[in-house]
Amino acid sequence: MKKTRIAVFVSGGGTNLQALIDAEKRGELPSGEIALVLSNVQSAYALTRAENAGIKGVWVSKKELGSQEAFEEKVVEILTQEKIDLIVLAGFMSILTKSFTDRYADRIINIHPSLIPSFCGKGYWGLHVHEAALEKGVKVTGATVHFVNEIPDGGKIIMQKAVEVEEGDTPEILQKRVMEQAEWIILPKATEKIAREIANK
Ligand code: GRF
Repeated sequence: MKKTRIAVFVSGGGTNLQALIDAEKRGELPSGEIALVLSNVQSAYALTRAENAGIKGVWVSKKELGSQEAFEEKVVEILTQEKIDLIVLAGFMSILTKSFTDRYADRIINIHPSLIPSFCGKGYWGLHVHEAALEKGVKVTGATVHFVNEIPDGGKIIMQKAVEVEEGDTPEILQKRVMEQAEWIILPKATEKIAREIANK
């Protein structure tokens, strides 16, 4: 069976990318292969992780290209060249336009570090998500993998996992627990699920 060709979009450290790479190595991504890592940030450590794993990495600069439209055009060109079937956003800190998300409808997934619909949407990124959860005093948070449409964190939910908030948690401590107990587990699982569905189409 033909494997689903996956592009992982990143902007930062890339621990979720690493979880995907490790899952593929362990044979837990049998329906897909990570064919490309695309970053909008030149210095993203995620690009080093790609290189270390022998995966093609590319940096696309919105600043150099001059506009979001030109950026997305370039990205589409690369994805077409690489015959990408599925895009995984793993800490990709740039909002894609409707024209892009429509073009890849049901072909883009994202990991968000809360149980959607809590603490999501515009402004809820990075530590802000965990700050908001602690401020609200929730006892359970978690992570969500969802399809991407033009609404930030608004697409159909694919997989979720809950994580307990503990006494004395700081945003940093909670962020780490959510990554370890939820994000790094469900992102590879959800990616395999969607990769399998695409491969079977
Ligand atoms: C993660 O918390 C992810 O849920 C969010 O951005 C962060 C990326 O971290 N979308 P990393 O680059 O994968 O380490």
